[in-house]
Amino acid sequence: MKILVTGGLGFIGSHVVVELQQKGYDVVVIDNLSNSSIDVLSGIEKITGTKPEFEQLDLREKSAVASFFKKYQDITGVIHFAASKAVGESVKNPLLYYENNLNALIYILQQLQEKKQAQFIFSSSCTVYGQAEILPITENAPVQKALSPYGNTKQVGEEIIIDTCNVAKGLDAIALRYFNPIGAHESAEIGELPLGTPQNLVPYITQTALGLRDELSVFGDDYETDDGTAVRDYIHVVDLAKAHVLALQRLLEHKNKSAFEFFNIGTGTGSSVLEVVKAFEKVSKKPLNYKIVPRRDGDVTAAFADTKKANDVLGWKSQYTLEQALASAWKWEQKIRA
Ligand code: WQD
Repeated sequence: MKILVTGGLGFIGSHVVVELQQKGYDVVVIDNLSNSSIDVLSGIEKITGTKPEFEQLDLREKSAVASFFKKYQDITGVIHFAASKAVGESVKNPLLYYENNLNALIYILQQLQEKKQAQFIFSSSCTVYGQAEILPITENAPVQKALSPYGNTKQVGEEIIIDTCNVAKGLDAIALRYFNPIGAHESAEIGELPLGTPQNLVPYITQTALGLRDELSVFGDDYETDDGTAVRDYIHVVDLAKAHVLALQRLLEHKNKSAFEFFNIGTGTGSSVLEVVKAFEKVSKKPLNYKIVPRRDGDVTAAFADTKKANDVLGWKSQYTLEQALASAWKWEQKIRA
């Protein structure tokens, strides 16, 4: 069975390609290389022994999307990652985010709704919950007005898929709402490649530990949490990748109870910024330079997942600990800078 992975050379996409190939799926990757490298194809091949088929194309070009589906008529299963993901950039350039993240989605769905049967997995985010009132966060928590255009593309993206599933009788979709993906494949052949200064905590930590950054700024120690720093649910990217394969299997086996379903994908455990720093120091055996600075705009106090629905329905549970995830991120960072 051939599966399309859009954005398949990116951080999460590349790990999903590996898991799919290891489960015996043929994979076709679409990527425009705007935030990824062609070398990731060789990294995937080193791990799995197989280079996925690759098409470099821009999903914002409607005619290119149509030509792709004409060429690969047997593709009905799509895992869609291709999107821009920098929260701050999205505030500065909202139309870029709406164009990238929504046009591509619409063009793919237009192709899938023509098919007798199709399966679509959407890369969504816990950002749709904002600061949830009740922790851990279940899928029943209300979606709150997004704090950034990026977050809004995930909310609107889910709504576009729901509306399309309502009319496209053969289309089944699952949205996975990720908490904070971190880490890298244990082989260190693939991992995260942030462009420029990292915005996310873990790449900033690993770059600081290597001396590429002077010190980590910890954004705020006056939150209402045990140590005053903000709490997140850091999920190993390989665990996250496995959730995608299970979600796809559910759709292919017609086990889904409704045409659109969504699941929280996290570990279920919240860790504060200082706990992450301490855990990193333990696995790297290096003290980390950091200083406390004021809060970052738009950050919530605490978010971590209730994973019961994913456990019960998808049969998925995270396996890796925070320390294992940080160790894999550290191994990857050292390898790419060697
Ligand atoms: C984690 C914690 C920061 C950097 C974002 C997106 C979300 C998502 C994952 C997308 C926060 C603190 C960070 C630093 C720090 N999905 N921090 N110093 O903001 O929870 O989620 O990435 O692709 O949609 O919003 O992740 O890694 O940026 O921050 O103190 O230099 O680390 O304040 O508490 P976040 P993050």
